Amino acid sequence: MKGLDKMKEIFERRSIRKYRDKPVSEEDIEKLLRAAMAAPSAGNQQDWEFVVIKDKDILNSIPNVHPYASMLKKAPLAIAVCADRGRGSHKGYWVQDCAAATQNILLEAQYLGLGACWLGIYPREKRVKGLKEILGLPDNVMPLSLIAIGYPDEKKGPTKRFDKSKIHINKWEE
Ligand SMILES: Cc1cc2nc3c(=O)[nH]c(=O)nc-3n(C[C@H](O)[C@H](O)[C@H](O)COP(=O)(O)O)c2cc1C
Repeated sequence: MKGLDKMKEIFERRSIRKYRDKPVSEEDIEKLLRAAMAAPSAGNQQDWEFVVIKDKDILNSIPNVHPYASMLKKAPLAIAVCADRGRGSHKGYWVQDCAAATQNILLEAQYLGLGACWLGIYPREKRVKGLKEILGLPDNVMPLSLIAIGYPDEKKGPTKRFDKSKIHINKWEE
């Protein structure tokens, strides 16, 4: 099918948690951030902020506050997707705005031949508090997600998740 072929990054993307010992170039980091900021946002408020993390000590410390983030110890890069909740007129949409930006980073990473994994931060209080401290985020800045990124050291095939039973036409009917 034509559409599926053009959009193969969507279907081939998987969570990659093992990375080669190779840095991600500044050029590729900028591409990831450009993709993030191309996302839709409520009222086009673009209330997102991004923390690019390359410092090994910082990457190594995050698993202390996040139980499912051990891959960061071997990742050359992570990007924290945060929202400035004091900004913008469309309050309450920050989760959706930042989730859209997060998914765009994952798809751009796939396109660039990188492997990435979405790590949930909000709404887990311990992770939010811990990451705010580690990254020195101001009170009004809330982390939604952290994305571990690197050159893949594991291979995963595409999944088959299409499930017709999840589709409801016009009304919810069995
Ligand atoms: C909101 C959200 C939070 C997630 N948090 C974590 C996490 O903390 N650690 C992790 O290893 N994977 C995390 N994942 C990745 C999921 O485990 C993964 O997407 C899921 O198992 C499907 O696998 P796939 O991404 O390879 O298709 C998260 C994904 C989402 C969307």
